[in-house]
Amino acid sequence: MKDVLPKAEIHCHIEGAAPPDLVAKQAARYGVDVSAMIENGRFVWSDFTSFLAGYDRAADLFRSEEDYALLAETYLSSLARDGAIYAEFFTSPDHARRAGLSPEAYTNGLAEGMERARAKTGIESRMIVTGVRHFGVEAVEAAARFAARRTHRLVSGFGMAGDERIGDLEDFERAFEIAREAGLGITVHAGEFGGPDSVRAALDHLRPARIGHGVRAIEDAELVRRIAAEGVVLETCPVSNVALKVFDDYASHPLPALMKAGCKVTLNSDDPPWFWTSLKREYDVAREHFGLDHKALAKLTRTAIEAAFVDRRTRADLLAKAEAKMR
Ligand code: ADE
Ligand code: ZN
Repeated sequence: MKDVLPKAEIHCHIEGAAPPDLVAKQAARYGVDVSAMIENGRFVWSDFTSFLAGYDRAADLFRSEEDYALLAETYLSSLARDGAIYAEFFTSPDHARRAGLSPEAYTNGLAEGMERARAKTGIESRMIVTGVRHFGVEAVEAAARFAARRTHRLVSGFGMAGDERIGDLEDFERAFEIAREAGLGITVHAGEFGGPDSVRAALDHLRPARIGHGVRAIEDAELVRRIAAEGVVLETCPVSNVALKVFDDYASHPLPALMKAGCKVTLNSDDPPWFWTSLKREYDVAREHFGLDHKALAKLTRTAIEAAFVDRRTRADLLAKAEAKMR
């Protein structure tokens, strides 16, 4: 049955959204052996470190503008089939450069895929340029400078992903200032593998409107009150968190507690095929394991649209579209 609840996500890594069959096709095209990386149609990894390494290897198989157009079109079309009307995804010019493509060509390729998906399904989308934390401060500042040039109108945000266990967040202040001055929306991964201190450091030094994950803020009640009071939006990814063992199971996941404390939360798929998830599955998990009913799930969709890095007109149109489908 078609799932009618309108959905939106604002936290997905485009390289991490490539399904195994597409990665295998790309590998065949470029003559790369991926048998150690894909077994029985599933990605193979064992922990955060090996996941990040596998992610880098998969990303290296997207090398041309058309490869990225196909990737964005595949991801967004599948989201639209699940009832999504809006998606914001993370791009990584560093991964593109490592695969031999300029950040401009990479962004244009993705934008072409976004336009194709929109023409086919109506899904609206935007790109958030990210720096990769474990590639270092210089690389993240270069990504911010590229984002600030706003080479494509569909680039509307800046963020940072990568290994939270490496480096200090305050060292990235300048990168985030560059992006903020260019008028980009700001988000940053924190409180996934880092504890509540990482979330506090992000708020103090980088002043994001949204935090990627942020779920480990739950370990500090004062911080949870601050997140609620300041209206910072948490881009939560429950299935990713359980797959990566940030929490042992859904019963220990803090999403319901964060909602109860008044924090704004959204549901997101992060790197869907790596964690055997999809945006639809995130909503299903929230229904089955967190006891959220249709009304509560609809509110999460609304929060994602309200927190989206889009202009006022687009936000109003998306909210109206969501409301019409919720009736
Ligand atoms: N890059 C891709 N997925 C990520 C995650 N879950 N955390 C940090 N960096 C990432
Ligand atoms: Zn993420």
